[in-house]
Amino acid sequence: MTHSTGTREAARPGTAPVRAGLAETVRFMATHTVPAFVRGVASPRFGVVSLYSRVNQPAWSNATLRAMKARHGGAPVLVRALSGDMLVLFDEEDVARFFAEPMDVLAMDAKDKLDSLSVFEPTGVICSHGRLREDRREVNDRVLAPGEPLHPACAEYGAVVEEECRPLTAATVLGFPLLRTALARISRRVVLGDRAADDGELAGWLTTLRDRANWMGRSRPEDSRALYARAEARIARYAAGAPPHTLAARALSAPAPEGADPLGQTHHWLLAIEVLAPIVTRTLLLLAAHPAEQDEVRAEIAAGTPGLPRLRACVQESVRLYPIVPDLVRVTRAETEWRGVRHPAGTTVLVPIGFHQRDPERVPGGHLFAPGRWLVPGADGDPRTAPFSQGPGRCPGDRLGLLLSSLVCAEVLRGNRLTGARPALDTGRPLPGIVDTAAIRLRLGRP
Ligand code: HEM
Repeated sequence: MTHSTGTREAARPGTAPVRAGLAETVRFMATHTVPAFVRGVASPRFGVVSLYSRVNQPAWSNATLRAMKARHGGAPVLVRALSGDMLVLFDEEDVARFFAEPMDVLAMDAKDKLDSLSVFEPTGVICSHGRLREDRREVNDRVLAPGEPLHPACAEYGAVVEEECRPLTAATVLGFPLLRTALARISRRVVLGDRAADDGELAGWLTTLRDRANWMGRSRPEDSRALYARAEARIARYAAGAPPHTLAARALSAPAPEGADPLGQTHHWLLAIEVLAPIVTRTLLLLAAHPAEQDEVRAEIAAGTPGLPRLRACVQESVRLYPIVPDLVRVTRAETEWRGVRHPAGTTVLVPIGFHQRDPERVPGGHLFAPGRWLVPGADGDPRTAPFSQGPGRCPGDRLGLLLSSLVCAEVLRGNRLTGARPALDTGRPLPGIVDTAAIRLRLGRP
């Protein structure tokens, strides 16, 4: 069976695909694919991020994508990528369909992604397909509770955040390194329990594995398997005695189908919560540059507004502007038809969501910090702005991620005012496509 778009201006089946020419392909490779690979597909290389921020590298990639979109009238374009052809989607309806397709048509485990992620989470839901994927997704959904307005263990996690954030506001300047340490400890405590908080050795092993994942499984595979086994045994030891509110204990609290590997999912959770450190740091940087928004958020924190919706919206806006997954990649498991052109099963499909969700042609004020857009009903399901993706591949940790990030931001802003920050953002101009997060320094003043 062929899965097709109900397209407005569909060409006839059998029509030849739109293919990028040689110059276009070279430009796409040079400005989009290779820079993404060099920056680190699984673990960002902060030196490279620093260099890219000096030259605003994403602007080159955006210019390439804008030109491709204009040249081909928004049609899907086949372009050469690292491991073969890739179908790049530009049209809003095509993107909406990308999100709507079931996983047995558009699957998560595209080759490059699998080669990379399977180094540190070989049994993670994102690396899986078929029945096994469904079983693993069920474990993730049960533990992370994406459908609930507040995570069932939010009180316990709030207490962890409060404790770990105490050192953050002792000085008058708060930098990324302190936030990174706090989030790494929060991550281990939320996933594995307090006994894991100080386990620098486990943290080191996991960092090594994630760094090797940047080499798509080609860097010392035997060593990586042995290291993964060591980390797996350590995680199992913590999980065996973990209190019920931890993600590991929640994973073990119900029987799982064979092969679902509930504890295998913890590797992604540990990483994802650590990744909140750059998200929180950039959110605070944006609030330092937008004092009126900061006032609103501080008033919300002072009023104890449940769920901190305004602050949450600021975090969402921060990940729209600076997505942690700027390229959403899938592989087709059946023949598909896009605008009347058939593509065989096995085609890699790309939605460059980082480009789309800033595209001023679709997103008003795309390059500006406008958190209020997330308070409009339906915003969270709008395929134009999808920092958590959408549909069956949507992030199951979205609510937990927003909860923990806004709680950390609230701890910093409670009793403190951000009076300045480095790098300085010029809010009268489009925001840069990338910021040197490791170099961010936030000045704290008492209000
Ligand atoms: C605000 C922070 C976060 C953002 C922006 C985010 C974003 C994303 C995105 C875009 C995807 C889809 C990736 C793809 O299609 O290749 C994803 C998947 C996933 N995320 Fe998150 N995430 C966040 C936090 C978290 C947290 C805190 C957890 C768990 C503790 C988590 C767990 C997952 C899992 C398990 C998947 C794989 C889902 C699947 O394959 O079905 N995420 N996330």
